[in-house]
Order: sequence, then C-alpha cells, then structure tokens
Amino acid sequence: MIDIEINGIPIKARHGAMVIEAADEAGIPIPRFCYHKKLSIAANCRMCLVDVEKAAKPLPACSTPATEGMKIHTNSPKAIMAQKGVMEFLLINHPLDCPICDQGGECELQELAMGYGRDVSRYQEKKRVVKDKNLGPLISTDMTRCIHCTRCVRFGQEIAGLMELGATGRGEHMEIGTYIEKAMVSELSGNVIDLCPVGALTSKPFRYTARPWEMASRDAVAPHDCIGSNLHLHVRGNRVMRVVPRENEQINETWISDRDRYSYLGLNEGERLETPLIKRNGAWHETDWRTALDVAVQGLKKIDPAQLGALISPHATLEELYLFARALRGIGCTNIDHRLRQSDFSAQNSAPLYPGLGQSLEDLERLDAALLIGSNVRKEQPIAAHRLRKAALNGARILFINPVDYDFHFDVAEKIIAAPAAMLHALAGVAKALAQSGARAEGLDTLLRDVKPTEAQRAIAKHLQDAGNATVLLGSIAALHPQYAVLETLARAIARMSGAKFGYLPEAADSAGAWLAGALPHRAAAGQALAQAGLDAVAMFEQGLKGYVLLGVEPELDCAQPAAATQALRNAEFVVALAAFKNVAMFEYADVLLPIAAFAETSGTFVNAEGRWQSFAGAVTPRGEARPAWKVLRVLGNLFNIPGFDYISSEQVRDELRALVDKAAPISASETAVTALPPPEQAGTLTRVAHVPPYAGDALVRRATALQQTPDADEAAVYMNETTAAQLRLTTGSFAVARQGKQQAALPVCVDARVPDGCVLIPAGLPETASLGAPFGPISVARA
Ligand code: SF4
Ligand code: SF4
Ligand code: FES
Repeated sequence: MIDIEINGIPIKARHGAMVIEAADEAGIPIPRFCYHKKLSIAANCRMCLVDVEKAAKPLPACSTPATEGMKIHTNSPKAIMAQKGVMEFLLINHPLDCPICDQGGECELQELAMGYGRDVSRYQEKKRVVKDKNLGPLISTDMTRCIHCTRCVRFGQEIAGLMELGATGRGEHMEIGTYIEKAMVSELSGNVIDLCPVGALTSKPFRYTARPWEMASRDAVAPHDCIGSNLHLHVRGNRVMRVVPRENEQINETWISDRDRYSYLGLNEGERLETPLIKRNGAWHETDWRTALDVAVQGLKKIDPAQLGALISPHATLEELYLFARALRGIGCTNIDHRLRQSDFSAQNSAPLYPGLGQSLEDLERLDAALLIGSNVRKEQPIAAHRLRKAALNGARILFINPVDYDFHFDVAEKIIAAPAAMLHALAGVAKALAQSGARAEGLDTLLRDVKPTEAQRAIAKHLQDAGNATVLLGSIAALHPQYAVLETLARAIARMSGAKFGYLPEAADSAGAWLAGALPHRAAAGQALAQAGLDAVAMFEQGLKGYVLLGVEPELDCAQPAAATQALRNAEFVVALAAFKNVAMFEYADVLLPIAAFAETSGTFVNAEGRWQSFAGAVTPRGEARPAWKVLRVLGNLFNIPGFDYISSEQVRDELRALVDKAAPISASETAVTALPPPEQAGTLTRVAHVPPYAGDALVRRATALQQTPDADEAAVYMNETTAAQLRLTTGSFAVARQGKQQAALPVCVDARVPDGCVLIPAGLPETASLGAPFGPISVARA
C-alpha cells in the first residue's frame, strides 16, 4: 500500500492503482464516462481530469497511477475548470433532449451536466445527427446521443468476446455501429445498455414504458440457468417493467445474460392462467379455489398411488420442490421426478447429494485446464462461460467432447466432436491415455483393455495431467445422452485419474435444489435413500400411469420424449396441473388446472450449481386468482391430512429443509461399474443429437417475445453436414421428414458443418420438434 492524499484526506492506496480506483475505494467522487472497473482503460473522454500537485496540467484520474506521496485535488478551481471545459465540448454535439430521452433520470451525462455544464451554450452551429443502427430486437439505438466513450466497444472485445460494435470515422464523423448493420448475437449483449452512460443504447422492449423514478427496485435471483445471477427487478404498480443486474462479485459480477434480462417479458406477454379451472363432461369451467382443490383431491384419491406420476420443473423454487415431494409421498406416491430431460437413470443411486459444480464460479477463472463434456456452455450458462473465457485468456486449455461443434468465444485447445456412442469411446480413449501415463484405472481395466487412444484423446489427457488446476465438467447436453451412466462414470474416472476436480453444469435454476428437496423417485429430502425407488420421469410416461400431477411442466416441450409424454397424459384418467401459463396441450390432457405464481410473484430459494442457497421475496403479487405454489401445496397437504403442513411462510419451509440437509449423513458419489462400451455408430446409420436452445428451456423464457425474435431462438430445423446432406440428397432450404419410430416431424433442412458425420441435430424444447422421440438416438430423414 502507498500513502496518497486526495482533497487533503490521507488515503492508503493499492500499489499500482489508478487515482480513480483509489478515490472510488475511499468514496471520493470523480466524474467519468469512459472508465468502467470491469473494462480496460481507454482514457478517451477526459471527464475525470483532476489536479495533481506538481503536474503542470490536469491529469485523467482513470489512467494516472497513484504514486507515493501524491497530492490530488478533485474539486480545486483548476480541476473544476478542466472538468467544465470537457463537459462543454461534450455537449457541443449532444442533443440534450432529456425530457423525451428514455435515459432521462438515470443518465450519467445528464447528472454530470447538472454539476459541470453551463446554463447557456456558447456553440451556435448546427449539431451533428447520426443515423440510428438496427441492433436487433433487444437493444434500441439513438446514436446522436453517443459520446464515444467506447465502453460498448470494449465490452464486446473484452467481455462478450465478439467484436460486434466498433468505431468508424474520425473526429466529428466518428460513429459507433456494427459496420455492416446486423443484430447483436452475443448472449450477453444487453449489458451494453447498462454500460452506455447516455441514452444511445437502451432496452428496446422497455423504452418509453416507464421512468426510473416511477419504479421500485426489488432484489431477485435469475430463474433460468444453474448460476443464480443476482437481479434487480424494476417494478411499477404490480408489473415488472425491466430487469438489470445486481452486482455480486462471486456470481455474476456486474453482468447478466440476455435470457435473465429479458425473460420477464414472458410474465406480461405470455397468456397467464389466472383462475382455477375444472373439466366437466369434456368442457372447461372457471371455478373457485375450494372447488378446484376438492375436485383435485377427490380425483387423486381415486387413483392407486402406485399409478400416480408426479413431475415438477427444476425451475421451481426449493420450497415448491420440497413441499411437492412431501405432499406426494404423503399420499403414498413414489413416482416423483424433476429430471425431465434425462434419458438414462441407471446410475442414480451412486449420484452425489446434488449435481454441483465442485468448485466456486470464481474458481473457474483460475483454472489451467477444463474438459467440458456435452456442453454448449456459452449459450447454456453464459456467466460460467465468461469465467472460463477469463481462464482461457490467461492461458488455460479449454477442451471439449461434444456431439456438435459449438462456437465459443475463447480459444478451444482441443475438441472431439462425435456421435453419442463415439463420445463414450472418446472418453474411454482419454481415460486409457491417462492410464498409459501412469494413472490407476481402478475398475475400468476390462473396459479399457482394447482401447487405443487417438492423438486428440492423448492431447486432452496430457492437457489435464499437465495442468496444476484442472476440472472435468458434465454439461447440460450430457444429461440427454442415452448412456448417461457410462458417460458420467468415464468423466468421473478421467477427473480422478488426472487429478482434476469434477463437477456438473446442470440445466436449471434449481437442479441442485431439486436433489436436496427430494424431488426424486429414489431419494427423499437431504439425500435420504428410499427402500423402494419409484418410477423415473421417462418410465412414468413409458408405462402410462392412470394419474399425473404436474407443477410448472409443459411435457410436450420439457420432457425427454415429448410425443410419448403427451400421449401418456392424454390416456390418463386424471391429470392435475399447477401452472402459471396456459398452453393448448394442457386443455387436452388435464382435468384440473390450478393457477400458480410465476417468477417474481413468489418468495422462495434457488440453490445454484455451487450449492449456494439464495432466497428472495416476491416482487409483485400473482396474477388474478393465482397463488404461490408453496401455499397451494400446503393446502393440498392439509386436504390430504398429511401431518406437518401448517407452514406460515416459505422461510419456514426452507429452514425445515436446511435443518435436514445440515444433519444428513454425507453422500459420496461413486463410479458405477462399466465393463463394456456400446458399439460406435455404424457407417450408413443416422443418429439424432439434440440440445435445448437457450430461449426454449422453460415456460417463462419461451413466452418472452423479444428473445424469441433473436437468431438464437430461430432453431427449428434439421441440421446436418454437407456429407450427410449429399447422401440424403438434401440442401439448405429443402424440407425433410424426420422419423423416430412412429414419431415424425417435417422440418426445414440446414446444412451445418458443426454436425458430425452420420448425425443430424434436431433441437429439443421447440413446438416444431415436440412430435419427435428421444433427443439422442436412431432416426431416419428423407426429403418431404
Ligand atoms: Fe439527456 Fe442523457 Fe438523454 Fe443526453 S442521453 S438527452 S443527457 S438523458
Ligand atoms: Fe459509449 Fe454508449 Fe456511445 Fe457506446 S453507444 S460509445 S457506450 S456512449
Ligand atoms: Fe478518465 Fe474517461 S474516465 S478519461
């Protein structure tokens, strides 16, 4: 630390800190536009000029290092004159149309102009006008207001990893834009709105709908991926008007993904279920809660609990998951699951307490190597990808074994792109390479005996082995794999053999919480093993049960085998669905619809992949007659006379589960015995691979119109590489019929080099692909 003085106040500053950083840490304000603590220093606005003793001219505080004994004045006449001079220049071309500007009331320029601007301009000439750019459905531009701070440009280069915005022209002709006008495609693009100090970049869906002083800010936790980004919800009346990041260095720093920023639109744009509904003689009737609950309870009582299936979304809160599992177990049902997209459950007994990251999110950026298996981390968990990108920029080797060659915003040191069974062989090759370099295979000797590692597999093994700090992560796509148990075992073995940490990047906001809450067929809350396991999510539909209870689930889009799920629900005698949104399918299969609160309308807790419990309060009241699901489950528990269902708050529910988790015996995950690998895909056969597009993962995001208008949402097609397309005589733009057994869908063809030979990529979670079968597996494709 060094000693400096700002405005006569002695201050300790970090060695190497800039004057603006030292002042910020001491709480002394210095005006700025281009400086941002998360971006490189551009020093191009000069708004931060300060008076440094013994310096002839004022110096920019953001790019002047603090040195021992330095005496700085931020508000001396010399400093103020310099700052006012800069402001006068800035305002020469600025329209200052604050009353009609959508940034008004929260504009850094407006605020500073109040302090440093003159009341009359000396500039009489015409101001310049800059044509607005079309950056897509999320970001609105008003480029005449741009002050060329280049924060948005640096964000693209340094954080998003995509050079989408840049400056063209010089001096007065300088303009910020995309050069060739196009929509921004970064999954973090909305952050430029927060970074832009003026009203040049604003939220397109939000603009002109509210003023900052009309809104109250409420804390929330993002309800989509397993990161648990911290949010501020800006609320006017009973409506969420917009979402911005809440700074949390340990989780999302100052960023949020576009999914977390814009999915709130689904609350207002989606067709909400607002009244309890019951079906009588094939016709739907609105009713009151008491009647609807009575009909639900009476209907469920008539079903043998062994013939009842209970499915809950992993995006539900911890409290909902816990009470759901408790209520269903209370009536004797053991067929409970939240793993809606998983296909293979054979290793569930050797799973850990919950699918955790095995390290903190901050740890990701300190890695030397990471092997991700079945992961499009950039689109699935953008904040984790940002941490991995930081690691890659520091020299970490990021490695992938994936069914599709996804595009990443960091250098990939090695990748193996393979069909599903070939992925297992690739993992076995990596394990064998590790064994050959001295690691103990422990239990895999038979399996690895005849495996001959390829160069790429050896390279992955070497990168992991050479790294001081490495990790192996199973991504969200891994869970779709039909031999997930083998995949997980090999991944775990590779981590053990290379000395790397092992972890998961599960798909949903509460995937970890769902395991802790016991929303599983084989374990109750806190990992307590059950004597007799119930049916898993796939078996419940394959076996065709007599009754189902759904909470927040849209089976035609959320389940591993959507066509089978829909059919089983239609054939069932009695279906109760607790839902926040209406959809067409539920009116066909359900008998009782109970409206529940959506995101932002209920209190609760999410447990992120790190195992961090984050609780939040409701920001707005639920729509219409909808009630928080934990309250509905509490009433159901009481109507079923299950003891201990007299909770008075969601915090009480959470604390009860917390106590169970705290005193539970630790569960250590183990590798299941694998002695043989499935044969790799044969030449001439076609295999479907799938992922869930970033804006198709849950009921809320699917209803956010602006997100659905982005390129990332436009995915309903059958993708194949040029070789496969030539074999099938298909071209981009032609139509093909994809068939999985009796299920089929007609889809446009897209020739895409990312897909490996012998595979077609057909994304899941989309209405256009809901008539198909399993996400991975044999498929036939022919010209329509
Ligand atoms: Fe006023 Fe700021 Fe808008 Fe400029 S960008 S018109 S200073 S509110
Ligand atoms: Fe700065 Fe905004 Fe202009 Fe980008 S658009 S350079 S963030 S003022
Ligand atoms: Fe220092 Fe812009 S903030 S030059």
